[in-house]
Amino acid sequence: MLLSQRVLNTQFSPIRKLTPYAEKARKEGKKIYYLNIGQPDVETPKEFFEGIKKYSSNIVYYSHSAGLYELREAFSDYYKSWNIDFNPEELIVTTGGSEAVIFSLATVADPGDEVIVIEPFYANYKGFAEMLDVKLRPVKADPETGYAVPSREEFEKAYNNKVKAIIFSNPSNPTGAVYDFEEVKRIVDFAKEKDIFVISDEVYKEFTFDGKEHISLMDFEDKDRFILVDSVSKRYSLCGARIGVLASKNKKVMEQVMKFAQSRLSPPLMAQFGLLGLLKNLESDYLIRMQKEYQDRRDAVYEEISMIEGAVFKKPHGAFYFSVKLPVDDSEEFIKWMLTDFNINGETVMVSPLSGFYATPDAGKQEIRIAYVLNSDELRKACRILREAITTYNKR
Ligand SMILES: Cc1ncc(COP(=O)(O)O)c(C=O)c1O
Repeated sequence: MLLSQRVLNTQFSPIRKLTPYAEKARKEGKKIYYLNIGQPDVETPKEFFEGIKKYSSNIVYYSHSAGLYELREAFSDYYKSWNIDFNPEELIVTTGGSEAVIFSLATVADPGDEVIVIEPFYANYKGFAEMLDVKLRPVKADPETGYAVPSREEFEKAYNNKVKAIIFSNPSNPTGAVYDFEEVKRIVDFAKEKDIFVISDEVYKEFTFDGKEHISLMDFEDKDRFILVDSVSKRYSLCGARIGVLASKNKKVMEQVMKFAQSRLSPPLMAQFGLLGLLKNLESDYLIRMQKEYQDRRDAVYEEISMIEGAVFKKPHGAFYFSVKLPVDDSEEFIKWMLTDFNINGETVMVSPLSGFYATPDAGKQEIRIAYVLNSDELRKACRILREAITTYNKR
């Protein structure tokens, strides 16, 4: 029996790839600061659990395939608070933002088609594209520019007539870049010129710092070519709830996506009830407090990373990630070495090698991604260990 080329060609998640080394280090008694995965340490708001407790049926049934109508109404209100006009019919609740990405790609691209992506990109886009036999056409953003949206010429170079869409996340995972109006417009204008779709992944919308405003794809005209991907995983520390949203003003898109939604029957019911309770009852300043918390953490990481001689980066303005080019020849080898051969008083650090966030072979070899998902004190300690580790590594 042979397995499909599709599965054989699919990459393992670069975020989890080095976990066996971390497990071994832990067994040896080392304390590890985990900055490799975007799982916040923030407590899930109690309103979510209260929402679940109010569930009164003694059957956990399937919901509507597009999600509970009341929840879609609550999402519609949420988007209105951002001046984004989506009525409940223009929203499908998905099993995490992940499913919204899969549905979007599968709706706009056939096997053999291609999708332009700004790289480095959220690594699972590659896994999803591989699952669908869709090829990613990378357009490279550079650490020297703070990973800004590349020029129109770069998009032109990546384009061919198999390209059906552009996908990107803003604020960006893994770089923390927040695109300004001109940058998003460049993407929209290019898509319009080539008559292709734009998939904008805005799961970190709330997390923008230094007064930087989040520019949504939905702030632009030509909405028929737009698909929005959203998720509550990071916004409310609900990663395991598995609730996301696919939204579009394009009726045909929504009608067709429903076929996929119906095939997988329903998004998780209990989580939808919990979220309904949360969206209706959460304190109004919750997200502002979270934004401040992440900005403080970003500041801590920025200060510490600034002390690494030879590191290349610009201050990121959003999400909760920091990508940086380090003065090491191969960041993956360096991270492995930190787990196997290095510690300070029994403590070491785990970050993600950025190469797995690129589609271009050998790109990002010196870069890493830091997810600032610990409190500021721990982040400072972790960054100091990282700094010492670089010095020791380069002196070996
Ligand atoms: C940019 C981006 N999009 C989508 C997702 C998927 O999130 P989930 O499936 O938990 O909603 C993530 C998770 O890290 C992400 O960073």
